[in-house]
Amino acid sequence: MKVRKAVITAAGWGTRFLPITKSQPKEMLPLVNKPLIHYTVDEAINSGIEQIVLVTAISKRAIEDYFDRSFELEHLLEQKKETRLLKEMQELSTLVDVCYVRQKQQLGLGHAVLTARDVVGEEHFAVILPDDIIDSQVPALKQMLAVHEQYGAGVIAVESVATQDLNKYGIIEAKKIGSGTYQVLGLVEKPEPDQAPSNLGIVGRYILSPRIFDVLEKTPRGRGQEIQLTDALQRLLDQQPLYACEFEGKRYDTGTPMGWMKATMTFALKHPEYGPELREYLQQIL
Ligand code: G1P
Repeated sequence: MKVRKAVITAAGWGTRFLPITKSQPKEMLPLVNKPLIHYTVDEAINSGIEQIVLVTAISKRAIEDYFDRSFELEHLLEQKKETRLLKEMQELSTLVDVCYVRQKQQLGLGHAVLTARDVVGEEHFAVILPDDIIDSQVPALKQMLAVHEQYGAGVIAVESVATQDLNKYGIIEAKKIGSGTYQVLGLVEKPEPDQAPSNLGIVGRYILSPRIFDVLEKTPRGRGQEIQLTDALQRLLDQQPLYACEFEGKRYDTGTPMGWMKATMTFALKHPEYGPELREYLQQIL
């Protein structure tokens, strides 16, 4: 059955990006002139997703306003005869069907996914973590959906991770079964390098079976006292196979200032309007 729904988790505090995230949702930080969350919504739409379930929390209202209609702004743009901008703003609010669920306690990624249970129902669904921005020709989620169609099972995105960074990611034990495709044999959340089963780290894109919800309900708190999606996936392996897709594309961790700066530079240099002038400026100052 077609994967129709994507859960985008946007409930975290963004502590790696303080102080800006004290009053500004990290998902609303700009990448050139669009907020980060817009890129992940675009990735979902371009992968064929029909409904977005956004998991938000306290002080995330700016996200809801962004995808909503603003009649006042539209009226103003109309009066100023800013036709192009007006069209862009109207399109933004009709991009896709978005619904919101609130995570009332921040108990981790597994708990955030569980919050979306009622809206997702009994079908396979995607999960997207908006900190991970992926620059690719074919949307990363679309690449994963091809693997899902082939095996009819859950799929997670992975990439090679440097040894010193293994303890920042979920790491999988895997058997290669095709070009860029693995069967997952085990998963561990943020292991120390000498405990890591491989160098394949989980990137924030998942296609999950609805059975994950039953498992999440029973998953005890793990690393960082949080309910970890990685732990639930490990438990679900007893019942169902899981696959991993080493997608083609470059991933940026925009949840940190350095990852965000690198993404900003890359996307700005590629931008048809701003790229050429920025390139010239950078050459001058370097
Ligand atoms: C989460 C997951 C982790 C995964 C990472 C990808 O961690 O728990 O398994 O590797 O996202 O970005 P977080 O970065 O939210 O701590």
